[in-house]
Amino acid sequence: MLFIVKIYRFRTVSSTQDIARELAEDGVKEGIVIADMQTKGRGRADRIWHSPSGGLWLSIILRPKVEPVYCLRLVLILGLAVVRAIRAVTGLNALIKWPNDVVIDGKKVCGILIESETVEDLVKYVIIGVGINVNVKLEELPLNVRAEATSLSEKLGGNVSNEEVLRALLTEFKALYKLFLRGETGWINEYREKSCILGRDVNVTNDAGLTICGTAVDVDDYGRLVVKLSDKTVRRLDYGEVARLRIHI
Ligand code: BTN
Repeated sequence: MLFIVKIYRFRTVSSTQDIARELAEDGVKEGIVIADMQTKGRGRADRIWHSPSGGLWLSIILRPKVEPVYCLRLVLILGLAVVRAIRAVTGLNALIKWPNDVVIDGKKVCGILIESETVEDLVKYVIIGVGINVNVKLEELPLNVRAEATSLSEKLGGNVSNEEVLRALLTEFKALYKLFLRGETGWINEYREKSCILGRDVNVTNDAGLTICGTAVDVDDYGRLVVKLSDKTVRRLDYGEVARLRIHI
């Protein structure tokens, strides 16, 4: 079904993911939850997502009739939509760091989180959270986060309209989501072009703290990262297998 019938706006919430999940469980078909601030924003691998005012914090509820294996494509589509939107609104050279980060000059400006419910091997609903540091003041972020983060206003030296970024994002996402629902994968070529890791040496660490080193050689049609290890074996990494990815400098 297409698409996003309703936008639910809040001043402050714990996490837009939680509100979106409640709505989905209450039967809302598709929609977007947006908040000015989150008190318990969360990221991947149980990390805290700092969400002061000025950012664009939103969760999209979707009900694609697909098997869970296709959810990774949705994360990639959202990343590509964010990159297109940032480029269109600001002209900044946003790039994608697989699977879920958007970076500018190597610093993270956006993170994407997918959570889903499945019934009998089919997706019941997915909630895709997107956090974009639009007008976030970096001094409001903890020191360890600040070192690796940026915001659009920081890069441009002035504020950017959150509404404009949101509009551009939804326009791009709608177009890509249509392709996703048709099972098309041609957009992955653009994803590859806008990736900042393909061809680079990377360290990939999983939840258990195990790290592998290799060269990121491709993103396959399922959205998995293809990594060639030094012994020439090839690994295809799924979203859940990667807690942290670092690029060798
Ligand atoms: C990550 O990079 O680890 C993903 C960050 C996702 C943050 C967004 S902000 C809106 C939505 N609500 C949350 O609590 N998290 C996501």
